[in-house]
Amino acid sequence: MPCDSVRCHRAQLSFFLRWTGGYWNLRSICIDDRSIGFVIIMPQSGDDQCRADVGHALSAEYWGHGIATRAVKMAINEGEQGFSGVLDKLGFLKEGGEPTTVACYWGSQSSPKRCTIARAWHTPLNQAQILSEMEVKLRPYQLSDVDDFMEWACDDEVIRTSRLRHYTSREDAHDYLKEVAFPHPWYRAICFEDRPIGFICVKPGSSNERCRGQISYALGSKYWGKGITTMAVKMVISSVFEFKEFPDIERLEGFVNVDNKASQRVMEKTGFQKEGVLRKYILVKGKIIDVIMYSFLKTDQIIN
Ligand SMILES: CC(C)(COP(=O)(O)OP(=O)(O)OC[C@H]1O[C@@H](n2cnc3c(N)ncnc32)[C@H](O)[C@@H]1OP(=O)(O)O)[C@@H](O)C(=O)NCCC(=O)NCCS
Repeated sequence: MPCDSVRCHRAQLSFFLRWTGGYWNLRSICIDDRSIGFVIIMPQSGDDQCRADVGHALSAEYWGHGIATRAVKMAINEGEQGFSGVLDKLGFLKEGGEPTTVACYWGSQSSPKRCTIARAWHTPLNQAQILSEMEVKLRPYQLSDVDDFMEWACDDEVIRTSRLRHYTSREDAHDYLKEVAFPHPWYRAICFEDRPIGFICVKPGSSNERCRGQISYALGSKYWGKGITTMAVKMVISSVFEFKEFPDIERLEGFVNVDNKASQRVMEKTGFQKEGVLRKYILVKGKIIDVIMYSFLKTDQIIN
């Protein structure tokens, strides 16, 4: 089924449910219990029963993360009785008691294979599990990352809400990497599926201030709202305190614009504590703004 033929209007939804009503093997693709698409396997009948058609669609905001690929694999595995193993591995929870089962015939006409499918699976796959599977990684920037760097560093949405300035040319971006990112004591690319899509850094204090470090981050806007920065901040906390990248640091600090609700949520979701508002604290893009100070101490707990 072509993805663009699916729309979220109620009338079309009832058409869709009627259309698929005869097929037991329609699955909703869910994140955090919210349906974001579907996958369906439609075994054919009569002379065509040796084959099955696969259809799938995913809400556009989740494209490009391998979710549909995973869902189709799961659906195919289901037909091969591997479904429960896949679900267990992905962190799905089995509902109480024996799951209700249905049976079907699968395979070629000459040797139909009977398989039993658990239907009563709950699907609480959460974002953190999806993301850890999809590998959010932190690594130093390289000059060869310049095009990926430009993608988020030229993103108007990112620039508008942060202290970053606009980078308009590759030369400009090269200079930034060479003059700011490379000499920085701890500046990392946030990589999603091996591609840099933002940055996160820790600037340790010096001398009498070496007991603290300041955390900053930004992410390309098309990746916002998927928990990626939250995961990156947790990785940084572990690097600093558990893996002792900076043995002197006892306290990480985050300074967040009072209007930047997304960044405030990132701080809260990772276990940073709000200490107060620093009024008229810093000049950002010609305007003096109030800033919230957050801190995370070595003895604090990361929120899971
Ligand atoms: C701040 C920023 C890094 C967040 O990245 P992200 O990967 O989208 O963050 P996460 O997905 O981990 O978490 C964002 C949270 O903010 C919430 N959020 C987003 N916009 C919001 C708003 N306007 N009001 C309230 N909450 C909001 C999201 O719903 C999510 O919370 P939830 O998981 O409870 O639903 C990203 O928006 C960004 O790069 N902004 C521009 C640069 C910037 O502001 N850097 C920080 C400077 S201090």
